[in-house]
Amino acid sequence: VQTAIGIAHSKLILIGEHAVVHGQPAIALPFPLVGVEAVVDYVPGSIKIDSTFYHGPIESAPESLDGVTNCVWATLEKLDLPCEDLLIRIKSSIPPGKGLGSSASVAIAVIRSLFAYAERDYTEEDILELAAISEKYAHGEPSGIDTLTITSALPVWYEKEHPIDRIEPKGDFHFIVADSGRMGDTRSAVESVAELIKSAPKRIQSKLDRIGELTHRARNALESASKHLLGQMLNEAQKELEALGVSDAGLNRLIYFARQEGALGAKLTGGGNGGCVIALARNEVHSRQLSEKLKKFGAHAVWSFALKKKMD
Ligand code: MEV
Repeated sequence: VQTAIGIAHSKLILIGEHAVVHGQPAIALPFPLVGVEAVVDYVPGSIKIDSTFYHGPIESAPESLDGVTNCVWATLEKLDLPCEDLLIRIKSSIPPGKGLGSSASVAIAVIRSLFAYAERDYTEEDILELAAISEKYAHGEPSGIDTLTITSALPVWYEKEHPIDRIEPKGDFHFIVADSGRMGDTRSAVESVAELIKSAPKRIQSKLDRIGELTHRARNALESASKHLLGQMLNEAQKELEALGVSDAGLNRLIYFARQEGALGAKLTGGGNGGCVIALARNEVHSRQLSEKLKKFGAHAVWSFALKKKMD
């Protein structure tokens, strides 16, 4: 039996996080600068996991790996493979708990590696269905946008219960992602918004609706190469996210600094309360300058990447 490999990139939410859990649209971008590789080998005995966090038999894996573990069981069942004789090595360059979709990427890389090991083809539905098992552990009530973006090569327009739509930007957009260095907990952030809805339904619903409206306008901005408009939408969405209580002092500090240094817009990305911010630079040169400045300002890690218009 051959060594089998599965890979997956990560994701960024451009706009619409949290509101997407409650039926609003969101835009997410595949983020190929960091990712996961899962390698499966035949090793007799019970199934073993080898990852940064844990090395040992799958049965004794810590609770934090419940998502992956359950995903492995479900995938093996689907593939009619016996639950033994495997070593699954997980190598990830995605910092966990930073809103970059690390949990979904790990699950998808592992599912793909098991299909490769079984020499079976998969459909996108297979991957999404199995990855959803893991995401339930990571997010509680996930919208599904992380898994969809991680299986997509193009920016994703996503609304629950609607077929997925892909966005083709009409211009080049230069983004910077800066890591606050602190881990966020998407599950508790999602739960805290759900609690707010219970306590002040009208007020919170109007904020979620507003994020939905901003997301529609952000799509128009991407499709009409309108950087300034997109920047404004990111800033407006950040205001709403702050009001929802999912931004924190560390994120705000990076966001305000990026704006002060000329970013057209900046906001948190992903679950919030820790994790990363995304900023829209004016152009490629500005993107490099801003990224250096954010590093000096204390961002834990900084990535710059461009969303390019498709060449025909
Ligand atoms: C997490 O990347 C995005 C959230 O909207 C949660 C979800 O959609 O499942 C915060």
